[in-house]
Amino acid sequence: MKTTKYLLNEKDMPRNWYNIMADMPNPPEAVLHPGTKKPVTPEDLSPIFPMSLIEQEVTSQRFIPIPDEVMDVYSLWRPAPLYRAHQLEKAIKTNSKIYYKYEGVSPAGSHKPNTAVPQAYYNKKDGFTKLTTETGAGQWGSALSFAGNYFGLHVKVYMVKISYEQKPYRRSMIETWGGEVYPSPTDKTESGRAVLAKDPNSIGSLGIAISEAVEEAAQNKDTNYSLGSVLNHVLLHQTIIGEEAILQMKMAGDDPDIIIGCHGGGSNFAGLAFPYLREKFAGKNYRLIAVEPKACPTLTRGKYEYDFGDVAGLTPLIKMYTLGHDFMPPGIHAGGLRYHGASPLTSQMLKEGYIEAQSYEQGEVFQSALVFARSEGILPAPESNHAIHAAVVEARKADQEGKSKTILFNLSGHGHVDMAAYTSFLSGKMADSALPESVLEEGFASIPKI
Ligand SMILES: Cc1ncc(COP(=O)(O)O)c(C=O)c1O
Repeated sequence: MKTTKYLLNEKDMPRNWYNIMADMPNPPEAVLHPGTKKPVTPEDLSPIFPMSLIEQEVTSQRFIPIPDEVMDVYSLWRPAPLYRAHQLEKAIKTNSKIYYKYEGVSPAGSHKPNTAVPQAYYNKKDGFTKLTTETGAGQWGSALSFAGNYFGLHVKVYMVKISYEQKPYRRSMIETWGGEVYPSPTDKTESGRAVLAKDPNSIGSLGIAISEAVEEAAQNKDTNYSLGSVLNHVLLHQTIIGEEAILQMKMAGDDPDIIIGCHGGGSNFAGLAFPYLREKFAGKNYRLIAVEPKACPTLTRGKYEYDFGDVAGLTPLIKMYTLGHDFMPPGIHAGGLRYHGASPLTSQMLKEGYIEAQSYEQGEVFQSALVFARSEGILPAPESNHAIHAAVVEARKADQEGKSKTILFNLSGHGHVDMAAYTSFLSGKMADSALPESVLEEGFASIPKI
């Protein structure tokens, strides 16, 4: 019998997160204060983040020990399995080997609890009692609600309105774990009211929901803001994925040529890719590919500039690939990939040529998801489908060139709460939405001149 799953023992789970900032050939670009445009200080960030996380945001320590309290919660679902996709390989008749790291085994069904748990832990440890956050697909909001419940923190979620309507069961999950959830834009914050004044029927975006959550946290002493992607400390926590994968690929006796992850804010991609980038900096020859939707082509068509992380301009200015903070992505089903910006660390890695980016239409992505679901059995999240599709494309390309590649991708979550997307695809109603240059130009006009 062929081996399908590579499972680590709990006692062999990595005990450290990997901080890529220790090894990047060029130092990370400074983050700027939105008012003064000068580099932010830890004090500037303290109204919305606990000091433990601010320290992780800027540290150059290579390995950060994972606290025992976090390991105890991680052990509810970690180590996560690594699969060899024998059935998918057969279905697409490839000579390449395909592996995937499956993060859908977590309680919320994605990689998001990997950072929700430590964020809740450090906020509790530093004396805070409430967290606000945004959520796109609902994966992050449910993950933080799960983690907040575990450490006794109240969690309030601003959920992008289109996802709130498309994914009612995500709302129930947030509430089941004790969180509160509202469709964003709301009339509860100044940022939300400003958007509604311009467009009462706004479908919302991650950029708007972030403004609402940041505004509420900044105004309340007992409340902090928690972000599910983009920031350095979030990517740091996600490296548990890649650290496990390196050990599991060794168990399989293989080493990937190509490493793939879908890219919204950058956290699941970086979680798998950054530990492999450490090896690449040391001389290994890996191709690392971040995959995004053509409807929100931040890495493939965006500009590498300083921009705000949110619509209202409340966040610090970050040097990143951006479509402009006013850019409103079409309402595609991969809600977690509808973000105008990107992580500054993945952006810099792309700019400096250490990683690549690709974009695809949701129709072709769902076509590959169907092949995956009918071969491997797992029903993936719409976001993860982008990684699956890129893996299939790369395997087919290798076949055409008469080569065999070893491909590893991150299956960032399951799609059990995203079945409306599958219904839409199966009934032929799913529309593609590649954007004309004129739409992108409108978004670019909102990038501030620094
Ligand atoms: C399943 C899943 N994958 C990927 C993403 C994209 O986020 P990131 O790029 O931070 O991994 C999300 C975001 O909500 C998600 O829910």
